[in-house]
Order: sequence, then C-alpha cells, then structure tokens
Amino acid sequence: MNDLMIQCRGLSKSYRKGATVVTPLEALDLDVPKGEFLALMGPSGSGKTTLLNLLSGIDSPTQGSLVIAGEEVASLSRRQLTAWRARHIGYIFQLYHLVPVLTAFENVELPLLLSDLSKKERHDRVSAALELVGLGDRIHHTPTELSGGQEQRVAIARAIVADPPLLVADEPTGDLDRAAATRILDLLRGLTRDHGKTIVMVTHDAKAAAAADRTLHLEKGQLLENACDVS
Ligand SMILES: Nc1ncnc2c1ncn2[C@@H]1O[C@H](COP(=O)(O)OP(=O)(O)OP(=O)(O)O)[C@@H](O)[C@H]1O
Ligand SMILES: [Mg+2]
Repeated sequence: MNDLMIQCRGLSKSYRKGATVVTPLEALDLDVPKGEFLALMGPSGSGKTTLLNLLSGIDSPTQGSLVIAGEEVASLSRRQLTAWRARHIGYIFQLYHLVPVLTAFENVELPLLLSDLSKKERHDRVSAALELVGLGDRIHHTPTELSGGQEQRVAIARAIVADPPLLVADEPTGDLDRAAATRILDLLRGLTRDHGKTIVMVTHDAKAAAAADRTLHLEKGQLLENACDVS
C-alpha cells in the first residue's frame, strides 16, 4: 500500500485570458503523506487556490499526473470525478459558503442528500460532525445567527460529514480574529491527529502555518520549502 495521499508529478495549469496565457502552476511535484497537515503559503495570484482546485477535482490540470489516494484523478470522466470528489474531498472555504436560509444542521446535511443513507443515518452523522466541531447546541441556528468562527465550524462539519480522507482549506482563518482562528486551527489539528485526515491548508498567516506539520511556499509556479523564512 502506498502511504501517500497526494502525488503530483509535472503538474501544470494554464489559463487563457484573451490573447495571453497565464500559467500559475508549472511542472510542479508534490508528495503529501497520509495524515499530514500541510500549509501552503505564497503571494496573491501565485496559484494557491488553483492548486487546491486541482487537488479536489474541481478543475483539471493542463499537464502532468495527479494521483490522490491511489487514483489518477486526471483520467476520470466528469461524472466519475463528481462521485470521486464526494467520497474523497472535503472543501473548506475562507468565507464559509453556507446556504443562508438553511440551519447549521441542514447545511451540514447537504452533502449527504446525494448519498443513499437513511434519514436516521444522516441525522446521526450530522449530529456527530456538529458535535465534533463543538456546535452541538446551535444546530437549529441559521448562518446569520452565528459568529464567523461558528460559521466556519459549520463549514468544517459539512466538509467532514461524509468522512473524506482529504480536506483542503482555502484560508480557513482569514476572516477570523486570533481567538476564533486558534480554535479552528486546533480543530484542524485534531482532525489529523485523532481522525487521520490529510489536510492541505492555504494561509497568508505565519501563525496559522505554524499549526501545520510542514509549510511549502508557492512562487512563480513552483513549490519551495522555507522560501520566505528570514530566520
Ligand atoms: N478561472 C480562471 N481563469 C483565468 N485565470 C485564472 C482563473 N483562475 C485563476 N486564474 C489566474 O491564475 C493565477 C492564480 O490564481 P489563484 O486564484 O490560484 O491565486 P491565489 O494564490 O489563490 O491568490 P490569492 O492569494 O489572491 O487567493 C492568477 O493570475 C489568476 O488571475
Ligand atoms: Mg486564492
């Protein structure tokens, strides 16, 4: 058995913008062992979100190989990719992306509505996920009735409710104060330590990156270790 969750080889992504071609990722290699909490830093526009979108099968590479949990993702059809994503990926966004008219419980239940779980099984899974993120008592509140930190915890519960092995997080603490951010980072750490999740987290915040096992810097299409360290 391969103990890598992610293996990228020569991964490139280009976008055409009118007459010009932008290539945020160029022949990138990346290995992420199962259970690692990896932080990804880099200037604005360096391709961090692009990389998360490739890792999660939302977007497809222009070139190269991307093997996740032993599967060559680039070779899947669109339909296969959708099913694959539902089983393997939890996506956590900076601005939560919760449905405003639904309660915390209903937001977390959403990814399970496509599964063949019974209502009772869905209820148990959603309750467990909300309990895990420390929101067991606020399940009937809508997003506007929650703080930013609580909204992000609902979003994390939604990302883990289907029990995917890989979580990708795009600046999950970017909009939070330090105390709420620390709580989210502790939660993410617990998901790797106690639940074996692999996490790739984009952040601009060196303190957030310090919570991860390893930090890589994306610059000019390449991943570098310790690129911005001045110490
Ligand atoms: N769908 C798209 N079509 C065209 N160009 C795109 C698309 N998505 C991203 N880009 C371009 O690719 C580059 C990388 O964008 P990306 O969003 O990955 O950067 P980022 O590192 O996440 O930046 P930020 O820190 O500001 O979120 C940018 O030049 C951007 O304009
Ligand atoms: Mg981004």
